[in-house]
Amino acid sequence: MLRSHKTFYFSMAVMLLAFSGIAVFYAWKAMQINNNLTSDITVDNPAIHLVLISQEYDNPYWRLIQQGAREMAILKGVEIEYLGPTQADVREHIKIIEMVIASKVDGIITQGLDEKEFTPVINKAMSLGIPVITVDSDAPDSQRVAYVGTDNYTAGYMAGKELIQQSGGNARVGIITGSFTASNQIDRVQGFKDAVKAYPNIRVLDVTESNISRIQSAASAYSIAQRYPEVDTFIGTSALDGLGIVQMLKESGDELVKGRARIIAFDDLPETLSYIDQGVIEATVVQQPYIMGQESVNLMLEYLQGKKIVTVFNTDTKVVRRADLTGTGEKQ
Ligand code: BGC
Repeated sequence: MLRSHKTFYFSMAVMLLAFSGIAVFYAWKAMQINNNLTSDITVDNPAIHLVLISQEYDNPYWRLIQQGAREMAILKGVEIEYLGPTQADVREHIKIIEMVIASKVDGIITQGLDEKEFTPVINKAMSLGIPVITVDSDAPDSQRVAYVGTDNYTAGYMAGKELIQQSGGNARVGIITGSFTASNQIDRVQGFKDAVKAYPNIRVLDVTESNISRIQSAASAYSIAQRYPEVDTFIGTSALDGLGIVQMLKESGDELVKGRARIIAFDDLPETLSYIDQGVIEATVVQQPYIMGQESVNLMLEYLQGKKIVTVFNTDTKVVRRADLTGTGEKQ
């Protein structure tokens, strides 16, 4: 009896030892597998985190850039975060860049809006080893690795040529521009003025700012129409400016410009195309925001892989008129 008890306790102790041995072995194995996994991820397939910072978070033009950037990020298996001020605001925009630099991301895609304000913050990111690609608007004097977007001087020039063709060289023009300090807007206005300068009967009456907002564009167009009753043409140099001008003309009726104002806009947001189709907007200079988003992510990834990349990647621009649309809108 006593003997069988002893045998029982002995075999229990052996089993316990054996089980704990097996448990320790598997725990150690599991740790090894986890360690291998972690090092696989960090060494062979690093999780890349890029950030796209827009001029205005919910602006429909910027949503197209975001869409292109996101599609490319999904294709390449990297992460892209999208940030931006609620309303266009250079101070707020720079604060966001500073915050993103502090969070040590792998790359920043943003605009070079106001050279004086943006160059230092872009250079700061670069000096901390965070590459910056400018998109849509450049800061050529900064150390950014590349610019992806329209050749804005040429785009403005195209708007000027379009006006010459449509007006036969005779027009009284009010320009509504997104910003007096954004390099892309400055270049567009300059390109436009240079294109028409050989035509003495095309007179630029005034240039006013919209802060890329449709409402402010309407208010600016209204103030031009009040101050210059002879105005017969409006040029809007950012995506919502043309729509603001239409709004002003619709709300003020024939009173101010007697319904004869010609509008040349920028970009092909659906509303702009519909106004072209209806004959309310004559023409628009179309950019490629979706491709800008795609290409900026693509170039950033090539740069991060140590490849040599172009420093300026110009996306296409073209003029779209009613004849280019297939719709059947009636002229109003
Ligand atoms: C410009 C952008 C701007 C947008 C605003 C576009 O035409 O290229 O810089 O943010 O309009 O709506």
